Amino acid sequence: MLLTTNQTQQMNTAVTAIVTLAIAASLAGFADAQQRGRLPGDVELEKGPLGADDFEKNALAVLASIMENQRYRNVPQHDGRLLRILAETTGAKNVVELGTSTGYSGIWFGLALKKTNGKLTTYEIDAERAATARENFKKAGMEDLITIVEGDAHKEVAKLTGPIDIVFLDADKEGYVDYLSKLLPHIRTGGLIIAHNINPRMADPAYMEAITTNPKLETVVRGGMSITMKK
Ligand SMILES: C[S@@+](CC[C@H](N)C(=O)[O-])C[C@H]1O[C@@H](n2cnc3c(N)ncnc32)[C@H](O)[C@@H]1O
Repeated sequence: MLLTTNQTQQMNTAVTAIVTLAIAASLAGFADAQQRGRLPGDVELEKGPLGADDFEKNALAVLASIMENQRYRNVPQHDGRLLRILAETTGAKNVVELGTSTGYSGIWFGLALKKTNGKLTTYEIDAERAATARENFKKAGMEDLITIVEGDAHKEVAKLTGPIDIVFLDADKEGYVDYLSKLLPHIRTGGLIIAHNINPRMADPAYMEAITTNPKLETVVRGGMSITMKK
């Protein structure tokens, strides 16, 4: 079949458009995969959390709504999931959190504590954020599991007694050493001190010194969190 010059031009334009679209789609897929830290063809290692029952489904919905509407320096979802796993697998009964914010990490702990029959005491200096967290804990059905203490945690933790299973440090970074020295005596043997924002730019050198040079502590740092066990 013979084509006119005009028809040939139209066909060339159509082929160019299809090839351009295909390349663009492929590049978009590549960029998308790269954004999630994967390359095309890499195996997907994690998927989002799935609620096993109505309590979990509701809590996950509250967590999603915090991320959408009330975000305030909350831990990323991945860290929240890890906190839940650590609390649940160690059967934690008594968890202490420094830095409640709007309650995001607190709800991840709450998911564990519902199963372990444990409780969380969480400290927040900002009254507005504490009020939002209180509402979120109620929406998640966790008001009986979680106590918010409003005020300066450096003063308030002095009233705590042990044994504490897990301490999660996520308030003022320069205060981590003070929290550690006040709370370590109350942490049970085998208990954990987990600290957030532990990376070469943000970590307080004094805190790193304290958790890595004490032979009675075992510390690993992974993905921006230090996990320290009291031997
Ligand atoms: C990074 S945010 C906590 C995020 C929270 N753990 C989450 O993932 O949802 C730090 C919080 O610590 C609070 N904070 C800072 N200094 C504090 C102090 N001395 N006592 C109590 N809370 C403090 C801040 O007001 C802020 O809401």
